[in-house]
Amino acid sequence: MNKDVIIACDFQSGEETLVFLERFGDDRPFVKIGMELFYAQGPDIVREIKDRGHKIFLDLKLHDIPNTVKSAMKRLSGLGADLVNLHAAGGRAMMEAALEGLTRADGSRPLLIAVTQLTSTSQQTLEEDLLIREKLEEVVLSYAHNAKLAGLDGVVCSPLEAGAVHERCGQGFLTVTPGIRYPDSKGDDQHRVTTPEKARALGSDFIVVGRPITRAMDPVKAWRRCVNEFTGK
Ligand code: C5P
Repeated sequence: MNKDVIIACDFQSGEETLVFLERFGDDRPFVKIGMELFYAQGPDIVREIKDRGHKIFLDLKLHDIPNTVKSAMKRLSGLGADLVNLHAAGGRAMMEAALEGLTRADGSRPLLIAVTQLTSTSQQTLEEDLLIREKLEEVVLSYAHNAKLAGLDGVVCSPLEAGAVHERCGQGFLTVTPGIRYPDSKGDDQHRVTTPEKARALGSDFIVVGRPITRAMDPVKAWRRCVNEFTGK
């Protein structure tokens, strides 16, 4: 898949999401469906958006014993998502089982990426809550390397970590990066932010953009600006 902008559709209902997507006319942006929408609407919302011609990143961040994750991934694979994810903290056996579950009878499967450490996790949380004494950046790189060894396609990380992840895991290992803002837009609750142009320069393969597009006065224009700056198209 080519570099692209993924719109985080963090809406409370399917109806709100579909009305939002209709504004794009004949364009079909890549969309991210997260827990909020999936738990509110169920799997049908994935099929519905897929049927309309969008690519889908299903951001459900699975983390359980290998057998349970394998069975759950089998279900998700049948929904037609293009990209799904899990927590690398579940370990290599869990990630390998997930890949098995995702692989369809014809050998095809959605891309699978791992969350290394959530961007809401600080060095202090790592040490005091999780009893992990290593530097946060090293934990991110080590988890990314584990994901690579398990056969995954990439990780979710900060654009600021994309270069180091590519160095450790190879240029072909995908970096999917949230935390995108324009210098002239609000940061909201994101702290370590970069612009689409900077994310491209840092080597991100996909950027995940929510509020700068969904809450813009003109979301289609905001999306086009993002695509243009990130992909150069
Ligand atoms: O609105 P905003 O652009 O901040 O949305 C970013 C999206 O990426 C949200 O759906 C958020 O949950 C998700 N995300 C993130 N940081 C991570 C993982 C996912 O911001 N580390």
